[in-house]
Amino acid sequence: MTNMLIAGCGDVGTALGLRLAADGCRVWALRRDIDRLPEHFVPIRADLADRATLGSLPREIDVVYYTAAAGQAGDDAYRRTYVTGITHLLDALRTAGARPRRLFYASSTGVYGQDRGEWVDECSATVPRRFSGRQLLEGEAAARAGRLPVTVVRFAGIYGPGRDALIRRVRRGVPCAAEPPCYTNRIHRDDCAGVLRHLLGLARPQRCYVAVDDQPAPLREVVDWLADRLSVPRPPLAVAVRDGRGKRCSNGRLRASGYDFLFPGYRDGYDSVLRVDEGG
Ligand SMILES: NC(=O)c1ccc[n+]([C@@H]2O[C@H](COP(=O)([O-])OP(=O)(O)OC[C@H]3O[C@@H](n4cnc5c(N)ncnc54)[C@H](OP(=O)(O)O)[C@@H]3O)[C@@H](O)[C@H]2O)c1
Repeated sequence: MTNMLIAGCGDVGTALGLRLAADGCRVWALRRDIDRLPEHFVPIRADLADRATLGSLPREIDVVYYTAAAGQAGDDAYRRTYVTGITHLLDALRTAGARPRRLFYASSTGVYGQDRGEWVDECSATVPRRFSGRQLLEGEAAARAGRLPVTVVRFAGIYGPGRDALIRRVRRGVPCAAEPPCYTNRIHRDDCAGVLRHLLGLARPQRCYVAVDDQPAPLREVVDWLADRLSVPRPPLAVAVRDGRGKRCSNGRLRASGYDFLFPGYRDGYDSVLRVDEGG
């Protein structure tokens, strides 16, 4: 039986773990609050930021997924989660005598600072504009320092069941600028899990994948579509507070690897979220 460790097993990690368990894998799930894990995962209660709590990791781990997310904003919280946490985990795995064949590290498209609407992919320059992207980039480097084969997966904004911030914003009628068009990128939670599972099945996964759907779109376009779908008035126009146009993230490499999206665009994805809300 293949032994999977999901470190930071939250929304994406749990969706992934359920798929891996259905494939016949044993899923070891690490987080601080293990009461929120499905019953058939093997729970590991530990704090990635506290090396002393990582004393009893199983030796038989074959593959590691690192999907921890900082629960709060701020440089220190991000550093603890994305840099210190992975460093501690790799050290603890070494101490346990574990020799996983691959580590998948969940990162973010926030590592790209491009802001003029240009396309970015795995080969684009990474000059983050914010502290969060800088810490994630350091986290990617810390993951690679462990001398395991590493695949970094850079997710765009994740939405899905219960992750409905934009829907609530549209319902509240929060004003949104139309000019200049500001591109946004996203991926449904179930595709995050699907991508991580898909990459495991590749004979030679590459070092990095950008994981976004097929449809980067200006925020105003998404907001208008959601308002129409919800049958509420389109939110008022706002004056743009900055001149940035965002970036468009390409999933070309992921697509070429054979991944087939459950939700290739925001319309399908949000429609499914709303149908669940509507009980349909
Ligand atoms: N949100 C987005 O739009 C977005 C965009 C790009 C990339 N990502 C990345 O996608 C990945 C998956 O995110 P998600 O949506 O699944 O996040 P999530 O639902 O918040 O899950 C994160 C998990 O990490 C655990 N965790 C956090 N700090 C920990 C610590 N010190 N020790 C042990 N466990 C810890 C949390 O559990 P406990 O609190 O119980 O410990 C939680 O279960 C993350 O790497 C995230 O950074 C997210």
